[in-house]
Amino acid sequence: MSAKVVVITGASRGLGRAMAEEFIRLGHRVLGCGRSAKAMRELDARYGPAHRFSVVDVTDDKEVRDWAAQCLQQAGPPDLLLNNAAIVNRNAPLWKVPAREFSEVIDVNIKGVANVIRHFVPAMVARKHGVIVNFSSGWGRSTDAEVGPYCTTKWAIEGLSKSLAQELPKGMAAIPLNPGIINTDMLRSTFGGEAANFPSAETWAETAVPWLLGLKPADNGHSLTVGERH
Ligand SMILES: NC(=O)c1ccc[n+]([C@@H]2O[C@H](COP(=O)([O-])OP(=O)(O)OC[C@H]3O[C@@H](n4cnc5c(N)ncnc54)[C@H](OP(=O)(O)O)[C@@H]3O)[C@@H](O)[C@H]2O)c1
Repeated sequence: MSAKVVVITGASRGLGRAMAEEFIRLGHRVLGCGRSAKAMRELDARYGPAHRFSVVDVTDDKEVRDWAAQCLQQAGPPDLLLNNAAIVNRNAPLWKVPAREFSEVIDVNIKGVANVIRHFVPAMVARKHGVIVNFSSGWGRSTDAEVGPYCTTKWAIEGLSKSLAQELPKGMAAIPLNPGIINTDMLRSTFGGEAANFPSAETWAETAVPWLLGLKPADNGHSLTVGERH
């Protein structure tokens, strides 16, 4: 397989970092972002200038615009655009979630994804090539108590992705993706000690990354789960 250009948001830890490291291990070129300057510096130092790890907050449209311009100049339009960055509310019934926290979850999980799409997708559309994967969740297709703001955003990601799928030219795909259940900071926040019963991000990435590399235009608009084909 020829080397692919892969853009990953939220590459500083969890699934994003594990995917970044696995794509690189398999010979692909990764352009990642996150808010943690320390993590971005570490990844840059470890993997060198063929890859790029940038401090970007996806909620800031101008930061995303500048980051996209730099990435497109360095590597051209991505073959795979992975909208992975997200946050979860602290477990609480909806009426106890402070207004600011509700807004933060919306800003990262929905508006952040739209920002990234706004600045990367025009170059992909111009080439009529590339797959956009928006990380959804089991909680984008079902619900549970105490994660209402998060569920709200992941159901939104399903709709946003399917609408985008109807706008793309032939040859491209937009896919809402449930990654499964993986032991990360996010899962520990919602599941507590139970999170330890689930696989690590590194173990997950060993199967998820080859699976992601197999996505194709025929997958456009389908709600998928890692490891399953429609
Ligand atoms: N883990 C699971 O079981 C599970 C299940 C279903 C769906 N998911 C989805 O999978 C994706 C990854 O989840 P995860 O478990 O890996 O979460 P995580 O461990 O909490 O990592 C989230 C990543 O997003 C980044 N991020 C958060 N806010 C950001 C912002 N404003 N700008 C840029 N980056 C930001 C974080 O980095 P910084 O803090 O450095 O910015 C971090 O790298 C998410 O979309 C999540 O909803 C996960």
